[in-house]
Amino acid sequence: MHIDLSGRRAIVSGSSQGIGLAIATELARSGASVTVNGRDQAKTEAACATIVDEVPAAVVTPVAADLASAAGAEILHEAVGEADILVNNLGIFGAKPVLEIDDDEWRRFFEVNVLSAVRLIRIYLPGMMSRGFGRVMNIASDSAVVTPLEMVHYGTTKTALLAVTRGYAKAAAGTGVTVNSVMAGPTHTPGVEDFVRELVGDELPWDDAQREFMREHRPYSLIQRLIEPTEIGNMVVYLSSEFASATTGGAVRVDGGYIDSILP
Ligand SMILES: NC(=O)c1ccc[n+]([C@@H]2O[C@H](COP(=O)([O-])OP(=O)(O)OC[C@H]3O[C@@H](n4cnc5c(N)ncnc54)[C@H](OP(=O)(O)O)[C@@H]3O)[C@@H](O)[C@H]2O)c1
Repeated sequence: MHIDLSGRRAIVSGSSQGIGLAIATELARSGASVTVNGRDQAKTEAACATIVDEVPAAVVTPVAADLASAAGAEILHEAVGEADILVNNLGIFGAKPVLEIDDDEWRRFFEVNVLSAVRLIRIYLPGMMSRGFGRVMNIASDSAVVTPLEMVHYGTTKTALLAVTRGYAKAAAGTGVTVNSVMAGPTHTPGVEDFVRELVGDELPWDDAQREFMREHRPYSLIQRLIEPTEIGNMVVYLSSEFASATTGGAVRVDGGYIDSILP
């Protein structure tokens, strides 16, 4: 299977680091032109430079916009115009005792993790439908189906994203546009690496440290290691392609077998 996304215009929200940056890199490697987004212009430009270092032919555009607001979504839209591939990767997380999560914090999580995706879908889906091709992917998490006690608000927003995905896939029925969630599991990002080191210490080399972390704290993982961001990027590339034309309205897992269930 050779995937060529030449001529496709992609947007990846929250892509100046972490999983989003890996997704943007893999889409660019497959030939798509990619809009890279974050709130900070310099960091977003630096992310584009990193992609070009790795993929010299990459066509990447940095757009700084805070997608937690409707105004930010409009800034992105004005800068980018139409898109064929929309990856709603932006998401925030953080531990907080559930009884201490106040209304403002609940609203903040919904604004960033759910409404940022809904707004961009509302902007870009109609054009995709009228052109007869489009790919929307919402980056969810194992926390969508296994609510983590230490961050119930995060899990709840990811569960909502699965329903958002299903709803907009129905809205796009029969148009050639697919809408899917990608459920990522524990992934090797800078934030997670710090978290692993906090729990298992600095003495072990990284490979041993992450294996110990997985054994002790994520024992259900079937790959028994963290997922590399590129592995999520590869799934997004596949779902973005013509080859994935019969996959829509669902949740595709890149969780290393972490979710202990047959269906998502
Ligand atoms: N890491 C994991 O193990 C894991 C597991 C499952 C699912 N996920 C999901 O995967 C996605 C990416 O996670 P990650 O760990 O790679 O994230 P991350 O490292 O925290 O990166 C977040 C990105 O979003 C940008 N950003 C933050 N707030 C923004 C806003 N309001 N508007 C626009 N951009 C914003 C950040 O740049 P600035 O701060 O400069 O704006 C950064 O580029 C999230 O949806 C997360 O829930 C992650």
